[in-house]
Amino acid sequence: MRRRLPALLLVVASAALADTRSFVDQSDLPAEAVRSGSVFLTAETRALQADGFANPGYLWVERGGELFNDGDKVCSSCHQADALAGAAARYPQYDAVAGALLNLEARINLCRQHHQELPPLAYESDELLALTAYVANLSQGRPLTVAVDGDAAPFFEQGRAYYFQRRGQLNLACNQCHDDNWGGKLRGDTISQGQPNAWPAYRLEWQTFGSLHRRIRDCDVGVRAEPHESGSEIYISLELYLAWRARGLAVESPGIRR
Ligand code: HEC
Ligand code: HEC
Repeated sequence: MRRRLPALLLVVASAALADTRSFVDQSDLPAEAVRSGSVFLTAETRALQADGFANPGYLWVERGGELFNDGDKVCSSCHQADALAGAAARYPQYDAVAGALLNLEARINLCRQHHQELPPLAYESDELLALTAYVANLSQGRPLTVAVDGDAAPFFEQGRAYYFQRRGQLNLACNQCHDDNWGGKLRGDTISQGQPNAWPAYRLEWQTFGSLHRRIRDCDVGVRAEPHESGSEIYISLELYLAWRARGLAVESPGIRR
C-alpha cells in the first residue's frame, strides 16, 4: 500500500512559503514499476473502456476511419490501414523533412499539407481527434517504443526537464504527483502514473473525447500554472519523454478516463 498523500499535502501546504527557484530531479520512474492508468480506474470504467460497443471513444475511431477513406486524395490512396499498424507506438518521432519532432497529430496534419494540399486541422477539432484516434487504434496492444537518440535527443531532454520542473502557484512538478504519489488520492481521484498510452481518450469529466495535450493542460492548470498551447513544441517534447517513460506499455486508445 502506498500512503504518501500526507507528504504531498505538506508539499502543497509549503508551496506558498517556498521560493521560486526551479528544481530539476533526474530520477526516472523505474521500468519495472510502470503501470497503465487503466489499473487505477474503477472496475466499471475499465469495463466501459474494454467494451467496443459501449466505449464512446469508438465513435471517433469510426469517424476517423470514414475520413481516412473519404474525399479526393484520401489517406487510403497512399496508406493501407494494415501498414500503419504499429506506427502510433513509435510517435513522437523526429522528422528530417520537417526538421521537427512530430507527434501523431502533427504527422497527420503534415500529410494533409504536403500530400493532400489541404490546410492543417485545428488541434482539438473533431476531425483531427478522429483521424488520430483511428491511426492510434490501429496500434492497440502494441508496446510504446520511441526513439530518443540522435536528432530526437534535444527534444527528449527538453521534455524531461519540463517533467521535473516545479511550476505554478502550487510549485509542483509532474514527478511529485506521478512518480512520488501514484496510488494516492487527490480530490476524490486516484493519482496514476500519468502515462500517455490511452490517449486520445474519452474523459468523463469533459463528456467528450480529447487529446493528451488537453489532459496535460488540465494538470498544468491544476497547479495554477499557465498551460502551453496544445501542439506546441514543448508539449510534443514532453509527450516524447512520457512515451519513453511508458516504454513497453501497450497502446490502449481509445481510453476512458475520469
Ligand atoms: C497535483 C498533482 C498533479 C500534478 C503536479 C500533475 N498531475 Fe497529471 N494528473 C493528476 C491527476 C489527479 C490526474 C487524474 C488521475 C490520473 O489519471 O492520475 C492526472 C492525470 C494525468 C494524465 C492522464 C493519465 C491517464 O492514464 O489517462 C497524464 C498523462 C498526466 N496527468 C500528465 C501530467 C504531466 C505531464 C504533468 C506535469 C506537466 C502532470 N500530470 C502534473 C495530478 C497531477
Ligand atoms: C499522397 C500520399 C499521402 C497521402 C494522401 C497521405 N499520406 Fe501519410 N504519409 C505519406 C508519406 C510519403 C509518408 C512518409 C513521411 C513523408 O515522407 O511525408 C507518410 C507518413 C504518414 C504517417 C507516419 C507513418 C509512420 O510509420 O511513421 C502517418 C500516421 C500518416 N502518414 C497518416 C496519414 C493520414 C491520416 C492521411 C490522411 C489525412 C495521410 N497520411 C495522407 C504519404 C501520404
